[in-house]
This record gives sequence, structure tokens and C-alpha cells, in this order.
Amino acid sequence: MSDQKDIMPLIDLNKIDSKETAGKAVDQLRKAIRHHNYRYYVLDDPIISDSEYDELMQMLQTLEQQYPELLDPNSPTQRVSGEVKEELGTVTHPKPMLSLKAVYNDSEVYNFDETCKKSLNEKKIEYIAEPKYDGLSIELIYENGNLISAATRGDGYTGEDVLSNIKTIREIPLKLRSEQIPIPPKIAIRGEVYIRKDEFNTLNMQREKEGEDQFANPRNAAAGSLRQLDSKITAKRPLHIFLYEILQCEDSSFETHWDELLAFKEWGLKVNLQESYKCKDIKEALKCYNNMGEKRDDLPYEIDGVVFKVNDLADREKLGFRQRDPRWAIAYKFKPRQGTTKLENIIVQVGRTGRLTPVAILKPVRIGGVEVSRASLHNQSEIERKDIRIGDTVLVERAGDVIPYVVKPIKDNRDGSEKRFIMPENCPVCNSKVIMSEDKKSARCTNMNCPAQVRERIIHFTQKTAMNIQGLGGKKVSQLMDAHIITSISSIFELKKDDVKNLERFGEKSAQNLIDEIEKSKDQTLPRFLFALGIPLVGEHLARVLAEHYQTLSDIRFASKDELLSIYEIGPEVADSITTFFSQDENLLQIEKLKEAGLTLENPVYKIGEKKLPLDGLKFVFTGTLLQWTRSEAQKLIEDLGAHATSSVSKETDYVVAGENPGSKLVKARKNNVTILNEEEFKNFLEEIQ
Ligand code: IVH
Repeated sequence: MSDQKDIMPLIDLNKIDSKETAGKAVDQLRKAIRHHNYRYYVLDDPIISDSEYDELMQMLQTLEQQYPELLDPNSPTQRVSGEVKEELGTVTHPKPMLSLKAVYNDSEVYNFDETCKKSLNEKKIEYIAEPKYDGLSIELIYENGNLISAATRGDGYTGEDVLSNIKTIREIPLKLRSEQIPIPPKIAIRGEVYIRKDEFNTLNMQREKEGEDQFANPRNAAAGSLRQLDSKITAKRPLHIFLYEILQCEDSSFETHWDELLAFKEWGLKVNLQESYKCKDIKEALKCYNNMGEKRDDLPYEIDGVVFKVNDLADREKLGFRQRDPRWAIAYKFKPRQGTTKLENIIVQVGRTGRLTPVAILKPVRIGGVEVSRASLHNQSEIERKDIRIGDTVLVERAGDVIPYVVKPIKDNRDGSEKRFIMPENCPVCNSKVIMSEDKKSARCTNMNCPAQVRERIIHFTQKTAMNIQGLGGKKVSQLMDAHIITSISSIFELKKDDVKNLERFGEKSAQNLIDEIEKSKDQTLPRFLFALGIPLVGEHLARVLAEHYQTLSDIRFASKDELLSIYEIGPEVADSITTFFSQDENLLQIEKLKEAGLTLENPVYKIGEKKLPLDGLKFVFTGTLLQWTRSEAQKLIEDLGAHATSSVSKETDYVVAGENPGSKLVKARKNNVTILNEEEFKNFLEEIQ
């Protein structure tokens, strides 16, 4: 598709006055949207802007509403169905979804290779090495290119029908493309649904704030999200997919597995060609395993091994299957990042909103090269469900950069001295009453002025993504609180150089720097200030939404619940949380004091729509690792100045910021003549425009 009218069809809705003209426009729009989905999700190379894409979707939606007879269950608009099911139905797989034989050392791999060579009477076998994704196995069936079924693996013969949930994953095409390679009349394809590690952490943080149970690991989060009865919930979860195998195919003409993977990509399916390797023999496959093991922690998704698959499909046919697994593939698992250790104690931490979280204090143990001495136990109910006791030997797992967790106690090691944990009735910090929910999943300290809550609130307030008061991180906040120098958010602005210069780890210069940083932060933007206030359920994004809508703090403060509810993205819980926050005397007092201290609060720099922001409308792409900021911090910097960060480079990109080890985006940037800034240049650029 290269014609401009196919990319951005010129449709005048006013001129559409019959089913025929509407039908034509609907076809054009669906074709264009599918093409843009393919460019965005599969090729990672969009050629239109988000707003142009939204425009196409909007037009299609309007026409489908006006002409309901044109509706198609696989139209790009039909991603979220309104239905809520009583239970998930079942689907019988066209062929059993078998599993893979797992091996744990090189010699088992050599044995596998020897057996294959012997059976095939060959000297050398070509393998494909692919990551073994740690997600949820799924089967998609396309008939004449249309997605007609999606099921979990279940017992291998029948699985759960998750079609309406699968349709909410935008990476999964509802209709396959057939530009170069013909689509078989019916094809069942296997893949893995997963959640990225960073998105998993964000999801858990969100759930913690909302008082919901946390997911133990990304795999559970993906499974829990996909097996929802209400697909609207699934739609909100950051699910992704990689397709990796044909389960069954009518009229297949492929000769190798590699060709199948290439065809997947061509049809618009998400394949991970970047991390799939064609290996000329088993030695090369083992090299891939070692390389993959080294980069495992850097991959954005969880993998627990490498799958070696015979590439030649005729050879696979000859090798056949055992009862539960194929003879032509194995999963070489990584050493588990688990360890056993003693759970010495369970302490209780008090969070910013007063939530009490039990934390396991472990006898330090090295797991996957990292020393682990703490693990979250989430809540009392979770501890009881797993029957974890103080003094137990426990199995601990560490998954990438995800917080370690206690898998289970080793009950055989008990000697009777282990003690059950009971959530204290009084806050361990301020001794106020603790309120526990009936299901024991949430416990809260009721004292808003509890020093632990205040401490967390101050740390939240000063952090980089909020008021960005450099030099006032967790340790310094504790030090100043212990010395009774700061006692609340507003007291930060009463700080004098003389109060701190004689404290340990301070001096004339660092004391002055801190005072300067505090002074500088008084001019912080409204969305950052709103986020910094720590209103429960109002994260960075919603703070921005509120600031954009109201433009001033006082308008937000006096907004009624109904008014807040009229804002898209704000639901009843958030509206409640905002009005409750602004009805509490302590919060209003703090805001008054901040005003008195000279905080701008209504920073005019942030007036969306008035084109006053220095980077208004510009598009940035980040690639590689920056040393001074995390990716999200850097994105926030430019977003605060009105720019947008997008994930892939196109002609519309204004700047590419390239850190260490930049990827293919840099090549694309050069091809598209996009200005490239290295970290130093980016820093200077920011300083110049501010
Ligand atoms: S191929 C006949 N490829 O691992 C076997 N499986 O124990 C077809 N898995 O349930 C599976 N990554 O969910 C294959 N690249 C990959 C995989 C993969 C993860 C899962 C799959 C399966 C389990 C096998």
C-alpha cells in the first residue's frame, strides 16, 4: 500500500448518503486502519500520526453507527465487546497443544541432537533457537484470514474460550494481511501472551494504590488478565503477544519453520524475529542459549529458557511426537532464579496512604547473582493462603528486575518453633488503630499524621517525577525528620541553611545546594505539583489530565464529583478520592502554607492548547540507555515542555535522543533525516530552551 489515498483515505462524511457509498468508504477505512496497525505493531514503523489514526477510527465508527448493517465482528472498531460472561466457554483444539521436553544441561542438548541425527540419518541439523517466553500459551484460529477463535491451552485438548478478551490486544490482527504470501483457508497458530516487566511493575503499583491484590509475577498477571469474564478489564491491561508455531494448517506449502515465521510477519502477526536465530548446527544453537542467558535481564519481557526447534518441516514430520511432546524440539531451561533461605522475621511497613504491608526479612541469599534479603508478602490473606510462618525455610524467586517474592514455605523443614504472623492491631510506627478489611487483604493505619505516612508523603513529594527537589531523597528526608527539622511537606520550604549545614553528610556547599533546589522547585508546573500532593489514585497521567482540564489548582479544588466525572478517564473512585482529599483540613492547611511559602501552584508555563510550551507539538523518540535519567524520566522532561514521546521513528519525528547502545531506531532516524541528539546534546538542548 503506497498510494496516499490508501494511507489516509479522503472521505467526506457529508457526501455519504447511501449504503453503497458508505460501504465503499467503510472498506477503504478498514483497509487503511489495518495497514497502519501492521506498520505500528508489527513493523514498529508508523507512517501517520496518532491523531490521524484516531481520525480514521472516528470516521469508521461514525459510519458503522449510521449503517449498522455494515458492522463486521472483525472490524478494527470491534476490539472491546460490551458483554460480561458468567464463565468462559470451552474450545476443543484442532490438534492437541503439546508441551516441550525440558532439559537443564548441555549434555542433554547434545543427546537430543544425536537422537535427531540418527533418526534422520543426517550429519548436521539446522535449528531455530527462540526465547522460551514465560507467559500464557494461546491458540488463535484464522479462517479465510478472519480471527474466529482464541483459546488457552487448558489440558492440551480443550482450553478456555478467550476470543473476546484476545480481541482487545491491539497487536493481534482481527484480519490477516495477504499482500505477498497467500493465507491458508484455515490456520491454527500458537503463541504466548505476556506482560512486559516494566508494565507489570506499574500495574502492581497501581493495584497497590487501589487496594487490590498484587500479582506475584508477570506470568500470573498475564493469565489473570486474559481469563477475565469482562473484556473491558482485559482491555485495560498491557497485554502483548508473540506467535511462534503453526499448530494446524490447511494447504500449507512451507518447507521450514523459518519460512513460517517470516510468513507470520507478512500476515501481520507479531513475531520475535529479532531474538529468533537460524543456527547451522547444535553448537551454534548452544551459543545462542548462552547469549540469550546473558541478555535475559535486559529483555523487556520474561523468558525462562531457549527453545531449539528443527527447522526443516519434512524432518519434523519424520521425527514425529512422543505422548506429550514433539521429538523435534526441546526447551533448554535457564537455571531457576530461585533459592531457599530462612524467613527470619516479618516486619510491617507503612505506606504513603497508611497501607500496612508485611515484608519478609530473609537470611541474605544470592539468587541469580543478586543478594536478596527482603521480599514483599503483600497482605495477611496472602500469608495465610501460602501458610508462611516466621522461622520457615522458604523458596524465594527473583524474576528479572521484578521484586523478589516468597513462592512457598518448605513445610518438611519445620521443627514446630515457627510462628504464625498476625497483623498488628496498632500501627507499628505511631501506635494508632489499624483497620483491617474483612477479607484481610488490606490493613490501614488511621492516623494521617503518622510519621511513617508523612515520611512517605514527603519522599513522594520531592521525587524526580514530582517536585524534583534534588538532594532530598529518602535517606535525607529520614535524617531531617529524625532531627525534627522537617515535619510535613510545607515545612520543607521553611528550611534554612543553618538548620542543616552542621548535620552529618552535609556541609556549607551541600546545604546551600539543597536550599537552592528547594527554591527552584517553587516554580514547578501544575501537573507535577498535583501529582506531588499524593492524592490517592491520581498518578502522573491523571494529574496531567486534571491540569489540562482545569488549568488552575483552585478550580480542581472546588470541582464537584459530578463535574470531575464528566472528564473522560475519571471514574467514580478517582472522583471520590479527589473530592475527599480536598475536603480534609490537614491537606487544605498544607496547600495554604505552600502558597504562603511562595509556590506558584498555578504555573502559567503549563497552558495546554495555548501553544506556550517551548516544545509544543514536537515528537521525540528515545533509543539506547541514558546515563542521567531513566527512559520515563527523560520522557517526562520533554512532556512537561509540551512534546510527545513516541516509540518508533517516522518522518514525523522531530528529534531522536540516542543513549548508549542505540538500536535500529538510529538507523531509521538517519534514513529519515531526523535530528539526532546524544545525551550531552540533549542536556544542553533542554538547558537552552528552559
Ligand atoms: S513451541 C509442540 N516455542 O512453552 C510445542 N513454545 O512447555 C509447541 N513456549 O506450553 C510449543 N515459548 O507455551 C514453543 N518459542 C516457543 C515458546 C513456547 C514459550 C511455551 C509454550 C508451551 C511451553 C512448553
